[in-house]
Amino acid sequence: MHIGVDLAWGANGRTGLAAVDDAGALVASASVRTDDEIDAWLAGHGPAVVVGVDAPLIVPNATGRRDAERLLGQAYARFDAGAHPTNRSRPWMDPPRGLRLAERHGWSVDPAHAPTAAAPLCLEVYPHPGMVGLLGLGRVIPYKKGSFADRRAGFETLLASLESIPELRLAAAAPWAAIRARFAAATRLVDLAVLEDEIDAVFCAHLAWRWAARPASLQVYGDLEGGYIVAPPPPEHEPTPRPGRSVDVVERSAVGVGPWEGPWPEGDRWDPELLAAGDTRNVVDRYRYWRMEAIVADLDLRRHPFSVAIENWQHDLNIGSIVRTANAFAAETVHIVGRRRWNKRGAMVTDRYQHVVHHDDVAGLLAWAGQRALPVIAVDNLPGSVPVESFDLPERCVLLFGQEGPGLSAEALAAADAVVEIRQFGSTRSINASAAAAIVMHEWVRRWAR
Ligand SMILES: C[S@@+](CC[C@H](N)C(=O)[O-])C[C@H]1O[C@@H](n2cnc3c(N)ncnc32)[C@H](O)[C@@H]1O
Repeated sequence: MHIGVDLAWGANGRTGLAAVDDAGALVASASVRTDDEIDAWLAGHGPAVVVGVDAPLIVPNATGRRDAERLLGQAYARFDAGAHPTNRSRPWMDPPRGLRLAERHGWSVDPAHAPTAAAPLCLEVYPHPGMVGLLGLGRVIPYKKGSFADRRAGFETLLASLESIPELRLAAAAPWAAIRARFAAATRLVDLAVLEDEIDAVFCAHLAWRWAARPASLQVYGDLEGGYIVAPPPPEHEPTPRPGRSVDVVERSAVGVGPWEGPWPEGDRWDPELLAAGDTRNVVDRYRYWRMEAIVADLDLRRHPFSVAIENWQHDLNIGSIVRTANAFAAETVHIVGRRRWNKRGAMVTDRYQHVVHHDDVAGLLAWAGQRALPVIAVDNLPGSVPVESFDLPERCVLLFGQEGPGLSAEALAAADAVVEIRQFGSTRSINASAAAAIVMHEWVRRWAR
């Protein structure tokens, strides 16, 4: 028998268990919590020969990450299938629960050990790189994140992918029929979460079986001393772009940097996947390899005290570029007034680094500004508008722009503390709204930015 264990890192999390026979067919699976429950299930489903555990086993390093994670990241981070950095700084890693499990059962953790039922072997394995490498996936299947509908769709793909592995013989496996039935009845995220560990365990059991039956399809990343992970060799196929994120392609095609060279820096701000795969996002060099949340937190420390608001009654295509300019000039917040949905293309992903607030109407924006005692400066070239260069632009303010076509609404104009314009000298009635926004934001920068 070969066993898969999707082991919760903490003592009370849910752990998935699965067993496949010597031909690789699924014979049992379960979801349990405590060490006692794990041990009782294992006692009824042995004897084990190879055990694949989806959790760290050998973690000698006090801080940082293991070489195994760096090497696995080099091969799989492009597919979003790297492994999280592990070290002994967390209480549940000292010692890792996986190692305690192996020691309790007398399993060897040395990948050089030739396993038998009398002397089993326990390996650290992960479903994500396993699936990408063995099933030729262009990216991990998105079944762990998102709304119920998103995850349900991800599960559907996951189940079908596992069913495509002939050796598991899932069509004939009673435990799999039970998993399928529970999936069909799932109505809440928690129903899927309960299934997830058990399904991951099934794949871990498959990896364990492969180690015995198809050894050439797996390799060891790292070593016994520093910790290792067993996964398929680095894929030769290319990753597919993230679904629904075509703007990422634009962001990723920008000039960037390759994988981090030398020892990895330590600290929360660094993104292990970027360190491993390189960073080609459209970010200034200061933020290379930083996690997005860390960049936002750093920007929050030094955003300027002006905000930008845009009316959005007709799906104005300019909003994206206004958000991008607001990000470039470190505006505090961007407000979308009117329709909630806006065309993100021109933002080139900068909206993820920006605080974007929606208001149904101008009154909502006024309430936000009023609470902060911020004057609203409307921007449009209308009779009576004051040329922006001769206007005493306040340091703390909201700059409010209208949309292509109608320009500022009557409500917006009535709400404004002042209306400023960019003087024009040609024949066109107006300039493009995002160009106008860039000029006025820069007027603020000229006066106030240090
Ligand atoms: C393209 S304009 C359309 C309305 C414009 N008032 C007209 O009559 O044609 C859309 C928005 O761009 C901004 N804008 C365009 N040209 C401007 C200028 N010369 N001065 C100030 N804002 C301008 C304003 O925020 C305006 O509401």
